[in-house]
Amino acid sequence: MDPVAGVPEVESFFHADTGTFTHVVYDREGGAAAIVDPVLDYDAAAARTSTTSVDDVLAFVRAHRLSVEWILETHAHADHLSAGGVLRERLGARLAIGRGITRVQAHFGALFGLGGEVPADGSQFDRLFDDGDAFRIGGCEARVIATPGHTVDGVTYLVGDAAFVGDTLFAPDVGTARADFPGADAAQLHASLQRILALPAGTRLFLCHDYPVQGRSPIAHTSIADERARNPHLAGSVDAPAYIAMRRARDAQLPVPRLLLPALQVNIRGGRLPAPDANGIRYLRLPLDAL
Ligand SMILES: [Fe+2]
Repeated sequence: MDPVAGVPEVESFFHADTGTFTHVVYDREGGAAAIVDPVLDYDAAAARTSTTSVDDVLAFVRAHRLSVEWILETHAHADHLSAGGVLRERLGARLAIGRGITRVQAHFGALFGLGGEVPADGSQFDRLFDDGDAFRIGGCEARVIATPGHTVDGVTYLVGDAAFVGDTLFAPDVGTARADFPGADAAQLHASLQRILALPAGTRLFLCHDYPVQGRSPIAHTSIADERARNPHLAGSVDAPAYIAMRRARDAQLPVPRLLLPALQVNIRGGRLPAPDANGIRYLRLPLDAL
């Protein structure tokens, strides 16, 4: 792949409750920015949402006089609620995701029995990206790389020398993303990982998550060299069949993500909550014995 021009600044915010990173990528102080994978706080016991975490992101944006042009989702997240809808409203920025979101909407719209309430056409977003699409964040070029596998809609955003890889790979000591959600595919994920590892050697890889082990601090970004050297899922000897076998065995042990049911209902709506009922209260649905 041709290199993409620009060396953007990146500020990363760690959401400890869900292990998620939100990244602000911008061309310069006072310049243009995109916010990647913003998180809406959600207290599951109380079914209470709040914007405390994303307010910190907005404070950074204001302090650095950034004009936010894009809110970029790397995929439909199952582990946290997206604040994409809140930010779109507050900032007037365009909300974007991979075109595969329509397949995620079709699947989960049916599971949640949403009927026509959430059309499976991506109309909840301002832009649906295809592989190879190019756009700009001020002085930085950006390109979309389809990296499905963990989800069918997964994309990586390459902004200058910074790649926002979503849920594909994690820190070298954590491994790679699971591939057992509806529409997931371990073979596709393996191919997507190879695409990421084939990026220019100096590319900074910004992670969507970290689950720090051994008491270390969360790591927001890694390098291709480090992943190749130390990630046991990516070392030279892990070919596609070995990866798929490893992934299946490992995924069979993993529990359903704690926030999957609330998260998908909000995230397929472009990070918006369902409309309130006549009593003014909004409700989420719980499909019983369906997962
Ligand atoms: Fe994910």
